[in-house]
Amino acid sequence: MSVFNIAVDGPAGAGKSSLSKRVAAALGCIYVDTGALYRAVGLYMLRAGIDTKDADAVASALDGVRVSLRYADGVQRVFLGEEDVSDAIRTPDASMAASDVSAHPQVRDFLFSLQRDIAAENNCIMDGRDIGTVVLPDANVKVYLTASAETRAERRYKELLEKGMPTPFEDVLADIIQRDYNDSHRAVAPLRQADDAVLLDTSDLDFDAALAALMQIIKERIA
Ligand code: DC
Repeated sequence: MSVFNIAVDGPAGAGKSSLSKRVAAALGCIYVDTGALYRAVGLYMLRAGIDTKDADAVASALDGVRVSLRYADGVQRVFLGEEDVSDAIRTPDASMAASDVSAHPQVRDFLFSLQRDIAAENNCIMDGRDIGTVVLPDANVKVYLTASAETRAERRYKELLEKGMPTPFEDVLADIIQRDYNDSHRAVAPLRQADDAVLLDTSDLDFDAALAALMQIIKERIA
């Protein structure tokens, strides 16, 4: 049985996750949020008191990490062992820890086959930073989703507010700029647009317009 895989990459806050979820619902496939895996590893290290910037310390501790993705009614939950950490991984500290650990090649290797296996077995739309370039180089569709840093910070600011985690706008923007820098300057699998990815800039699009544009790109490539 052949499956279809859609790869969506782009910087933090570009709308990858909310758009991909809606695409998954429309196409009846699963949505795989790979950032949640890096966040879970980051959270594990934080809780273990490990310096997330220390590649060797993080690599040594990976043995203890039991991370898995489970799906209930098509909705992804991320687990550390038997603990559902889907909410715990969303704090600003976990975000920064995720960005730190994602720069270590051992962490990327550790999560690579997990992502590949899910994509091999399921029709899916998978989002991240290196899906089109490294994880799924043969994806049926590749999209690079982006928006200006200010637009992305505004969206993230509102999202955090709605989730009851109000954070000053300046902090959200600084966090986005710092993570953009980390994600695109690291030596291993840096954030970049795959040569064969379609660029979709959503700075001037509202959610529905961005969704329509994304669905159009996908429909043109998956009959
Ligand atoms: O998409 P996100 O903000 O939840 O991702 C959290 C961090 O994980 C982000 O700083 C970049 C990193 N990441 C990555 O390096 N590769 C991926 N495929 C997904 C996320």
